[in-house]
Amino acid sequence: MIEFVHAGKTYPNGVQGLKDVNLTIEQGEFVAIIGLSGAGKSTLIRTINRMIDATAGKVLVDGVDVMSLHGKALRRFRRHIGMIFQSFNLVTRSTVIKNVLTSMVPDMSFFRVLFGIFSRQQEMAALAALDKVGILDKAYTRCDQLSGGQQQRVALARTLNQNPSIILADEPVAALDPVTANQVMSDFRRINQEMNITILINIHHVDLALDFADRVIGIRAGEIVYDGPVGSVTQEVLDSIYNGAPVPKVADEQTAKAAAEIAALKASLNTSAKEAQG
Ligand SMILES: Nc1ncnc2c1ncn2[C@@H]1O[C@H](COP(=O)(O)OP(=O)(O)OP(=O)(O)O)[C@@H](O)[C@H]1O
Ligand SMILES: [Mg+2]
Repeated sequence: MIEFVHAGKTYPNGVQGLKDVNLTIEQGEFVAIIGLSGAGKSTLIRTINRMIDATAGKVLVDGVDVMSLHGKALRRFRRHIGMIFQSFNLVTRSTVIKNVLTSMVPDMSFFRVLFGIFSRQQEMAALAALDKVGILDKAYTRCDQLSGGQQQRVALARTLNQNPSIILADEPVAALDPVTANQVMSDFRRINQEMNITILINIHHVDLALDFADRVIGIRAGEIVYDGPVGSVTQEVLDSIYNGAPVPKVADEQTAKAAAEIAALKASLNTSAKEAQG
């Protein structure tokens, strides 16, 4: 269980990233966090694994005040929380399996890490994680030969291999095209359901949030302005989260992309027609 109790974050420059946040997230929930750029989405999820330190109130994970953790205890705690980024954060010149195996490194001796000596058992676990996200066949391929969606799946497998109880994902599909974004979101969904891992996902596209998550948290200027099931998200709710601005949707981008392609096609047809005439 994750709890925010009157939690706040004031950055050194005085910006209030979070203001008096109160939340309870049960084990196994799939939560989407939505809001305008600068609303505080990254600040919110990053206070959970202490990538960012809260400056007011408390953040508790399974009853433990995360601000009380230091050194070895903090490192051990972080092992149970996977983190996924928009930019995948892979060693692209390495193979897929080596990237997945790096999640084992904190538990290994310096000597073994230095020579990249992984046990058969570790290798099998890494392969099983790749199988979970459907890219087992890419295990021995270099990451720079994979598509963006496949790379995000490697990142997801690497996180699974650490056996987390929570996955924090900061805009994991922002760099992907709409079709791939949907596929990666369904990977998250499946992992959430099959493994009962709590998933908190910051997401820019509201339609993806509503299609895949169970619960939506809307944040505006550091404050929670909506917290409830996806089914209760109305246009009014979205207007309050987005200050009345148009709601970003992946489907619109797809339509816009298709419209741009059609326009380009028409333009080139016109040019060829003119050339044929002249
Ligand atoms: N290191 C920092 N120092 C000062 N202010 C910061 C810092 N990081 C974030 N902020 C500010 O805190 C607020 C919340 O930022 P945050 O990155 O959490 O927003 P976000 O919702 O994730 O935005 P985006 O959608 O653009 O990623 C913003 O006003 C931002 O400028
Ligand atoms: Mg952010």
